Amino acid sequence: MSRTPITPTGREAYFAENDIIVSKTDLRGIITYANDVFVQISGYSEAELLGQPHNIIRHPEMPGCVFKLLWDTLREGREIFAYVLNMCKSGDSYWVFAHVTPSFSANGRILGYHSNRRVPHEDALSAVRPLYAQLLAEERRHRNRAEAIEASTRLLLSVLKSRGQSYDEFVFSLSVHTQLGARD
Ligand SMILES: Cc1cc2nc3c(=O)[nH]c(=O)nc-3n(C[C@H](O)[C@H](O)[C@H](O)COP(=O)(O)O)c2cc1C
Repeated sequence: MSRTPITPTGREAYFAENDIIVSKTDLRGIITYANDVFVQISGYSEAELLGQPHNIIRHPEMPGCVFKLLWDTLREGREIFAYVLNMCKSGDSYWVFAHVTPSFSANGRILGYHSNRRVPHEDALSAVRPLYAQLLAEERRHRNRAEAIEASTRLLLSVLKSRGQSYDEFVFSLSVHTQLGARD
């Protein structure tokens, strides 16, 4: 289904520190559940969200390689933590620290996916923003989407290698601040 393109406003939207944005999807990433916090921040009604692909809230400044990593990890049956910039129906944007995980049947089959998101700490975003800008710039150098994502994935891996960290180690080195609430 084609949607009217939304123009980003450059304004940020916020949700409360104690709130958790929750959504569930089927195996293809079609939204099957959205909690009230998700409905409110997104600016869509529940009826507008349910049955839509989760990229309904994709922000054009998010590098595609992050979503490739997300899907590769989920399809292998593993959970992933990621910083994601999302877009509201109004074109405003909001950052989240997301945990995304497969939901399994009793016999270990993946039934769908589930995500919980919290407000990220500003310190973490200070590291994530320039990294994502670098990845996006790399993607924009390529016309072909598959090549673009391959190139930004290579760049992400080389940045991680130069830091001597795996992706999970990188994310957790930032999220320690978030979890411990080291705010001052
Ligand atoms: C459970 C779950 C939660 C997701 N949450 C988000 C999200 O908050 N924002 C987002 O842009 N994509 C999210 N995605 C990824 C989207 O399915 C999609 O891959 C992404 O928006 C990129 O869109 P594209 O693949 O059409 O480029 C989620 C996927 C799953 C399975």
